[in-house]
Amino acid sequence: MSEPVTPYKTSASKKEEVRSMFDNIAGKYDFLNRILSLRIDVAWRNRAVRILKTYKPVHVLDVACGTGDFSIAALKSGAKQVTGVDISENMLASGRKKLAAKGLTDKIQLLTGDSEQLQFENDRFDAATVAFGVRNFEHLDKGLQEMYRVLKPGAPIVVLEFSKPKSFPVKQLYHVYFSTILPAIGRLISGDPRAYTYLFESVSAFPEGEQFLQHLRNAGFKSCKVNRLTFGICSLYSAEK
Ligand SMILES: C[S@@+](CC[C@H](N)C(=O)[O-])C[C@H]1O[C@@H](n2cnc3c(N)ncnc32)[C@H](O)[C@@H]1O
Repeated sequence: MSEPVTPYKTSASKKEEVRSMFDNIAGKYDFLNRILSLRIDVAWRNRAVRILKTYKPVHVLDVACGTGDFSIAALKSGAKQVTGVDISENMLASGRKKLAAKGLTDKIQLLTGDSEQLQFENDRFDAATVAFGVRNFEHLDKGLQEMYRVLKPGAPIVVLEFSKPKSFPVKQLYHVYFSTILPAIGRLISGDPRAYTYLFESVSAFPEGEQFLQHLRNAGFKSCKVNRLTFGICSLYSAEK
């Protein structure tokens, strides 16, 4: 098996490195997210919410919720309650501040939790979502199996993740932007020299399209689908338990 792509390439586990990287950049994460994605991520999140909405979920689990942007967006599906889990305390702390400022603390709860060992009973949630999180899991299949376990039968999983554009000239422009411009801006603003280089490296190595659908099927999901968004820079996956 190939070596996992990790932020700092130390002897620590991928999970430990990912946790400390997100703890380091938490204060600047939202700001960087908006400028580096040129706000296209807002449209991607809305596309994902449109899928969620068709299932009329009451209680949504948002895995790898970070600062809670997707947890907040998930409310637009009509959900009454969203539970977010993440391994980075600093990302969660920043998210909780945002929820308090928006008056959403009664609807959204952000908890410390590991996607590979969720603290919930079987068949609990009406939907599960992960936005830009699966690429960071140490054990992708374990994370997907855990989400399958805590979903009610028939409930959807919706996953947003970066992918790679395939055609000229977007492929070439994307490569320059993701491999040089984005890490340079990220380094300058976040103060973490590796975070945004890790972003490029981890996206390059991550399974996409049919390959990712196969991971969903292996975890037990059915009706697995992918939509490539914005020339394939992002992929939107959906499936059902
Ligand atoms: C790129 S951020 C995405 C945050 C948020 N979903 C968003 O859309 O802005 C990835 C998040 O995955 C979290 N993460 C990575 N591995 C995790 C795991 N095993 N369990 C829970 N969260 C994890 C990180 O701490 C980080 O907050």
